[in-house]
Amino acid sequence: MLSLFLFALLASAAQRSAVDALIVDGLQVGFYGQSCPEAEATISDIVNNEIAMDRGISPGLIRLFFHDCFITGCDASILLDESPAGDVPEKESSANGFTLVGLRTIDIAKSTLESMCPRTVSCADILAFAARDAAVAAGLPSYDVAAGRRDGMRSNMDDLPGNFPVPGHHVPRLTELFSQRGLSQEDMVVLSGAHSIGGAHCFMFSNRIYGFSEEADVDPSLDPEFAARLRQVCPPRNPDDDPQQAPKVKFDSQTGEKLDSAYYSELLARRGLLTSDNALIEDPQTRAMVEAFAGDDAMWQQKFAEAMQRVGMLDVLIGEGKGQVRKQCRLVNGQEQQQQPQLPWFRHQQRLPWSRQRRPRRPFPHHPVADLINGFFRGFH
Ligand code: HEM
Repeated sequence: MLSLFLFALLASAAQRSAVDALIVDGLQVGFYGQSCPEAEATISDIVNNEIAMDRGISPGLIRLFFHDCFITGCDASILLDESPAGDVPEKESSANGFTLVGLRTIDIAKSTLESMCPRTVSCADILAFAARDAAVAAGLPSYDVAAGRRDGMRSNMDDLPGNFPVPGHHVPRLTELFSQRGLSQEDMVVLSGAHSIGGAHCFMFSNRIYGFSEEADVDPSLDPEFAARLRQVCPPRNPDDDPQQAPKVKFDSQTGEKLDSAYYSELLARRGLLTSDNALIEDPQTRAMVEAFAGDDAMWQQKFAEAMQRVGMLDVLIGEGKGQVRKQCRLVNGQEQQQQPQLPWFRHQQRLPWSRQRRPRRPFPHHPVADLINGFFRGFH
């Protein structure tokens, strides 16, 4: 009798721990299993289709997810075109703007899911699934994405300065910013490995290849051959240049479409594109991590997947009382009726009821090139 009781107790404990493993900080793997069983597969199909048409979507989605979660948590605030409070949204910050890639993919996924299961799958979850699918499409072994996030209702570009890493940052500042978000220094180094795919516009690193200092035109920490190649691709900066026309250079010129640890080997070869990339080999602690990851692709991939799962937990909104499930990822519910997209904003004279304090909206992107470049190199201090 006693042994039967003990057996039942052990069996129920085992069952509970299997379930607990699926529920992480209130999010749940398989969250849409009942309410929208095809959600994850549909998102994956859409992401893969989009990537088949444009490889650049893959890095774009991973970056979009990181930029969303790092500021006010994974609440899809980066996707909002408008903030009901009248704030200029995150999207228009100089850290985002036209450099964001993948927004259209999220729109396609959302409208498809709305037709399948209306008001069920949040934009924040779509972004988390899409980032995973993008990473897998770039060669990362798949990982579980716990879901159940709800969408936020505000977005303000003023939340970025002082809270967001920029290309001019060095390890102490990067570590500080990540630790403010509950992420370790190792997470920072591991996640920076996302720079194994995609690239950066010339103005993000042109301070390293032109007029670096009074003594050296080119950053001496760069491999000279690599610097010469960068100078061929990137002409000297001119304040009149349209930043949107700036060339984009791949972070990893060797295996730039594969999410692998070659990024770290490139850093050790002094071919890191951004100051913040190169900084990882200048600090003894982070250099040791770079060396370890450079030599062990499988270990880095495993750590990257785990770090992405941790990013996906940042300040999530969970439960009916928090946030909402948006109908459109670009607008908070209720805004879509009030918005008249056929009218350009400069002709849209009357005040909208939800935006008494609304600042006048200029054509996107509204930052002059100098703001964009200065914002990055001054590091929003
Ligand atoms: C550590 C601090 C970081 C800094 C300073 C930084 C900065 C940048 C910059 C300046 C670009 C170039 C954007 C452009 O010119 O279009 C970029 C691209 C990118 N970043 Fe980061 N980043 C950081 C960390 C991360 C993290 C943690 C992730 C993801 C987990 C990430 C993912 C990416 C990806 C995938 C791209 C390529 C985007 C594309 O090609 O469209 N970055 N990053």
